[in-house]
Amino acid sequence: MTTELIHGTHSKESLGALIDLTRYPIDDSNHPVRTSIVESCRRQLVETGCARLECCLNPEAVLAMANEVDERLALVDRTADWQNPYLSDDDESLPSDHPVRRFHYRKNAFLCRDRFVEGDLMDRIFLLMELLKFVRDCLGLTQLYHYADPMSGYLINVQDDGETFPWHFDTNEFTISAMVQKPEGGGAFEYVPAIRNSESENYDAVAAVMDGERGNVIALPLEPGDLQIFKGRYSLHRVTEVKGQRPRYTAIFGYSEQPGVISNASRKLKLFGRCLDAHLEAETHRPVRADNLRD
Ligand SMILES: [Fe+2]
Repeated sequence: MTTELIHGTHSKESLGALIDLTRYPIDDSNHPVRTSIVESCRRQLVETGCARLECCLNPEAVLAMANEVDERLALVDRTADWQNPYLSDDDESLPSDHPVRRFHYRKNAFLCRDRFVEGDLMDRIFLLMELLKFVRDCLGLTQLYHYADPMSGYLINVQDDGETFPWHFDTNEFTISAMVQKPEGGGAFEYVPAIRNSESENYDAVAAVMDGERGNVIALPLEPGDLQIFKGRYSLHRVTEVKGQRPRYTAIFGYSEQPGVISNASRKLKLFGRCLDAHLEAETHRPVRADNLRD
């Protein structure tokens, strides 16, 4: 345990170096400002599947995070693949224009959790119990745990000039991400809220978006330091092509409603091109899903 920790929580000074506590008093569960932010987030999540916490991370911390990533760029796992919105295999029994059969090119890189060490800013922010409890409250959950995966518990998504992350659904119900570095151009986060639900894939609407239908597409403006809570299992989403020499860095922090959750090897190999022994072990267990949707 580090000296800054007192009974699992941080001193105001150490927490305030990472989070703007004046605007987001996440460490005081009775603070009326915290209560109203939590209520606003819950409302946004119901209405659009996404809540944006503007300038939640301190600018100095965000700059230092970007420097941490710069220093480790030689350690990124870079992969490219053709992927459909479900990150699944092709199904030749379906018509050729079916969304399951539409593959777009993805090329990007990840700086995984195992490339960071204890005390790094990414590690410190991820492990903040105050942040975990705040996110739990915003999601309206009674239990929330740190995602235990040794590679993707937290990570940085790195997108260089010309790279894109095409339309897809997430396997997990929600993600917490932070913009760490904006590119010179492009790299917009776009999503279509609740285009599918646990009962229906709504393939026609998914196909329409992939054909260019923009009616229900929301483009979320994200600035460095913004934190985003996003329900990505039911909302189709993508990052548009990045333009310019400065790469787009996004931090993704994983949380789970179950303790000890680790992803399996096949998904790790697809996204990162490598995995650890813990993922091979997880391959023998069936993933837990709250629905019967394609992944
Ligand atoms: Fe996603």
